[in-house]
Amino acid sequence: MTAYVELPLESAHRIINHGPVVLLCTKNPEGSYNLAPIAWCCPVQKSPPQLLVVVGKRHKSYSNVFAAKEFIIAVPHAEQAEMLRQTGSVSGSECDKFAHFDINHIVGQKVDAHIPAGCVGYIECQLNKNFDTDKTDIIVGQAVAAAVNSEAFDQRLLVEKSAGKTLHHLGERVFVTPDDKVLQ
Ligand SMILES: Cc1cc2nc3c(=O)[nH]c(=O)nc-3n(C[C@H](O)[C@H](O)[C@H](O)COP(=O)(O)O)c2cc1C
Repeated sequence: MTAYVELPLESAHRIINHGPVVLLCTKNPEGSYNLAPIAWCCPVQKSPPQLLVVVGKRHKSYSNVFAAKEFIIAVPHAEQAEMLRQTGSVSGSECDKFAHFDINHIVGQKVDAHIPAGCVGYIECQLNKNFDTDKTDIIVGQAVAAAVNSEAFDQRLLVEKSAGKTLHHLGERVFVTPDDKVLQ
């Protein structure tokens, strides 16, 4: 029989938290661009396609989303773990992270935001609605464009190939990448 140990409530999310960490890419009202790692991201519905991100209200990304009413969710590759750490360590209200961390970028097709070069894929979104959850907001976006590395996707994400290795946050500085084993 499985032996269970009590899980502190503040850690409970960590057993469902290993979806890919994403980067919330936004435009600053001042004209430069910002990005921040977000572990709490989830699809909402397939048609019309929507997703949600949970964003702290004190983050620069938060005010940017409401100013521009659009954002891009980029899925970083496993080799970009250091960039995730860097961009999560400082606020875009203190520095231009793209310039400060020397991050090369591509541009969105429909949304005015910068996507770090080398990401596995990205989803461009228009702000649809938000739900106030106290210190954070649940921000729901409607996808208006999406693209993925052609070597990383064939009907599904090819996590068994090096091009499809995403990053999954287990807490603190610990990340994991998907295993090669795919059950069918
Ligand atoms: C791996 C990782 C996951 C994170 N997940 C979230 C998240 O889900 N929601 C959130 O509001 N902040 C999250 N953060 C914190 C923000 O990314 C961080 O505070 C960032 O500096 C905010 O930048 P900004 O002020 O430019 O928006 C995460 C940070 C890291 C490193």
